[in-house]
Amino acid sequence: MLIVLSVGGSILAKELKPDSFQGYADVLKELSKEHDIIVVTGGGVAARDYINVARSTGANEVDCDFIGIDITRLNAKLLISALGDAAYHEPPKDYKEAQSVLSSGKIIIMGGVIPGQTTDAVAAILTEYLGADLLVISTAVDGVYSADPRKDPKAVKYETMTAKQLVDTVMKNEMKAGSKSPVDPLAAKIIERCNIETIVMEGSDPQNVLKVIMQEKKNDQKRKSVDLGTRIVN
Ligand code: UTP
Repeated sequence: MLIVLSVGGSILAKELKPDSFQGYADVLKELSKEHDIIVVTGGGVAARDYINVARSTGANEVDCDFIGIDITRLNAKLLISALGDAAYHEPPKDYKEAQSVLSSGKIIIMGGVIPGQTTDAVAAILTEYLGADLLVISTAVDGVYSADPRKDPKAVKYETMTAKQLVDTVMKNEMKAGSKSPVDPLAAKIIERCNIETIVMEGSDPQNVLKVIMQEKKNDQKRKSVDLGTRIVN
């Protein structure tokens, strides 16, 4: 299968330690024995810190986004470094470049591409553009909840949900101050528009990502819930 994996910066670079990059690199090498993989890395705390300083010193929002993109690409470069020869040597700068380097047979690692979105949206667009079989969003929450579980004790986790339900849930949560959905609204809209086969899961232990993806068999898992997250069904 061709798989696009979005790894949130909050997972990969929570404390900027080598272990999380090495842990993901080991898992990606294992996955690449059976699958073609493209990874989109997020920016995490560093992106937020850099953006906050830029905003405070007068940068406009698009400039802040460019700074965020740079940080996501730095995280991509750290993951490339941990992968060594198994990875394509540079993060592609856009979707077309990602497509053209796919034929290298290497694991492709990239960050953000254009202002106004997050890396979840990059991953969703890439999945559609490349005709990938599966999008996996590895994030800090163990799936999609009816409300923000950190704020609402009555929030329930969806085992499976439709893309339309995902869009509605994400929009509802995003409207509440301080809430952050595990999938950003643009990514949710693209998943809905393009019927993208998607799993949202907690990825702080990369071995769980390996487990979930290894359980997937092309086209015969649809509509089944996953052990460790939420499956978006169409
Ligand atoms: P992230 O995708 O990391 O956003 O991009 P995030 O919501 O902070 O996700 P986590 O916490 O890592 O899971 C960091 C920032 O980079 C810019 C945006 O400003 C985003 O908030 N960015 C990223 C873009 O402008 N365009 C992109 O394509 C990607």
